[in-house]
Amino acid sequence: MEVVITENPGIVAADAIAAHVRRGTVLGLATGSSPLPVYAELLRRRDAGAVVFDGVRAFTLDEYVGLPRSHPQSYYSVIRREFTDPAGIPVDGPDGEAADIQAEATRYEAAIRDAGGVDVQLLGIGTDGHIGFNEPGSSLASRTRVKTLTPQTRADNARFFDSADDVPVHVLTQGLGTILEAEHLVLVATGSGKAAAVAAAVEGPVGAMCPASVLQLHPYVTFVVDEAAAADLRLADYYRFVADHKPQDQGW
Ligand code: GLP
Repeated sequence: MEVVITENPGIVAADAIAAHVRRGTVLGLATGSSPLPVYAELLRRRDAGAVVFDGVRAFTLDEYVGLPRSHPQSYYSVIRREFTDPAGIPVDGPDGEAADIQAEATRYEAAIRDAGGVDVQLLGIGTDGHIGFNEPGSSLASRTRVKTLTPQTRADNARFFDSADDVPVHVLTQGLGTILEAEHLVLVATGSGKAAAVAAAVEGPVGAMCPASVLQLHPYVTFVVDEAAAADLRLADYYRFVADHKPQDQGW
């Protein structure tokens, strides 16, 4: 695991993702506020000719069940608006309106597999340590399936809807086992509200109470956090020391 503490998480995460981008690359994309600066930076680099998305495709992590894809807060709409449409990247996501939701979960797993798997997966983290929508108690080996949101996550996401009651209760999300199959995982977290979740994910025991802690089992993970999100990390000074002494040719 690598932990990068930086005042520019969007730029560092964009560096990590851009390093994978070539014709045929499969991107794993996340919604929420944390990845937005990453998408803005990647689009800026595309406009400057520093990165080319030709032949790149993408998959999202999760979706609300029962929300039409055309709804402005469906994750499919959000990711298209914020990144894939301006980038010209075709994107697939779990269809939360599918008549047979189990069949849709199976279809989605197969689609990722048929694409050759995800090369680099961008992740945020919920205040309760969820990734995708894998809430505490999720199987660490889980595959794409329906989950029920915690009251805390519904409250956190209420800002995107007219009222808290409008936040869907159920979601369709890649499982933790699905996410772990990506080659490189890049998790971005900013702000003091994420400090406890980041510390539990990076330094806590691996367990279902903090689903993001399963990333400790993955061989290639980069946590990109700002100072506020790093506040509870016991080894923060060590992570800074590692960064300061990183061989030049390794890249982020
Ligand atoms: C949602 C998404 C997660 C995301 C989380 C945090 O619950 N399903 O993928 O990581 O929100 O979002 P934010 O970055 O807005 O705090």
